[in-house]
Amino acid sequence: MAPLRLGSVAPDFSAETTTGPIKFHDFIGDSWAVLFSHPADFTPVCTTELGEVAKLAPQFAKRGVKVIGLSTNDLADHDRWVDDINKVNNVNLAFPIIADKDRDVATLYDMLDSVEHDASNVVNGIPFTVRSVFVIDPAKKIRLILTYPASCGRNFDEILRAIDSLQLSDRQPIATPANWQPGGEVIVHVSVSTEKAKQIFPEVREALPYLRFATLPAEEGEEEK
Ligand code: BEZ
Repeated sequence: MAPLRLGSVAPDFSAETTTGPIKFHDFIGDSWAVLFSHPADFTPVCTTELGEVAKLAPQFAKRGVKVIGLSTNDLADHDRWVDDINKVNNVNLAFPIIADKDRDVATLYDMLDSVEHDASNVVNGIPFTVRSVFVIDPAKKIRLILTYPASCGRNFDEILRAIDSLQLSDRQPIATPANWQPGGEVIVHVSVSTEKAKQIFPEVREALPYLRFATLPAEEGEEEK
């Protein structure tokens, strides 16, 4: 199978999850989605990560994003581990977690750690999943891919920030600069002339002929959190 790239259609699949069986494209429906894997249940970094995603559930919902986790543990493990996650993070984790025991979805999405595998992260010769993130839009296109190693917990505020940037650049002819935060200056898309930009945006600042900053109308630029 061709490697997944930005713009690829997210492969559809059927899976067992902690909230019942799903068909992935039906699960996404008309929403955005974040599909993210963790290496294994009952491990420390993963316990903090899933707790954080549970805490941020209202922020994902506000952006029209459905969240779904995945590891190669079975449903019984997931259910017991969710009790631990809820207890130590003081949350009520409600998003589904895929039980990908046969690594079918992990293989489809290339989530397996195929280089750094040793006895500590291999079961039956197949490595655990790494910390993969796929942001998928309502057209089922992959819009962002992240891969983190087992030792480094992800920053889910950054994933929300990237979703804000993606959704904003779908609505307006803009890109977002380094370290952009909602409400901050944006960059006028290269396809838009400065003259046209001045008609579209309340303020345009030309730093270089190819680097034009703009402010957005209040309702577009305001903080989403
Ligand atoms: C962790 O979540 O802490 C972890 C998981 C797999 C390997 C190493 C660390």
